[in-house]
Amino acid sequence: MATYSFVDNQGRRYHVTVPPGQAQPALLSLLHNQLQVGYVELDWGGDGVIENFGILVDQAYRGHEVGTGLLREALALLRDHGVKLVQGYVREGDLTLQPFLLDWYRRHGFAVLPDPRVLVAARLEKRL
Ligand SMILES: CC(C)(COP(=O)(O)OP(=O)(O)OC[C@H]1O[C@@H](n2cnc3c(N)ncnc32)[C@H](O)[C@@H]1OP(=O)(O)O)[C@@H](O)C(=O)NCCC(=O)NCCS
Repeated sequence: MATYSFVDNQGRRYHVTVPPGQAQPALLSLLHNQLQVGYVELDWGGDGVIENFGILVDQAYRGHEVGTGLLREALALLRDHGVKLVQGYVREGDLTLQPFLLDWYRRHGFAVLPDPRVLVAARLEKRL
């Protein structure tokens, strides 16, 4: 079975895991020393589409390339599970706290699209 792991800029190793027995999990766990320090949340649509892709790293672990590693490995894992398209949203509140978000997603190959809904700053889309 493939493993999804990476090292941050301080040499700490992380694993991205699918909960046992779940072919289409609602959550991918980010583990460091067997402790969950972040996650990716997702909804499985039909035809290999993921909706509401969301990513979070515990505050204490941010700013050390952990989010970048999690994003990369989660996308690789989803691709290996037959996912063809990932969709998500950036909320206004998240963008206010983290103005780097849209550029970050763009650098990782996401299209950043306008969205008419209140409190939604942008829609995200990436083909795998
Ligand atoms: C978004 C999030 C997952 C990023 O995690 P992270 O571990 O800090 O990410 P990284 O250290 O890999 O940094 C990602 C990029 O953002 C930049 N960045 C991170 N923190 C930053 C800060 N405080 N100021 C400016 N840039 C910052 C990094 O420089 C990096 O840019 P690069 O690709 O040019 O190197 C994390 O901030 C988080 O969990 N936020 C709360 C939940 C959230 O808003 N999720 C997004 C929903 S759309």
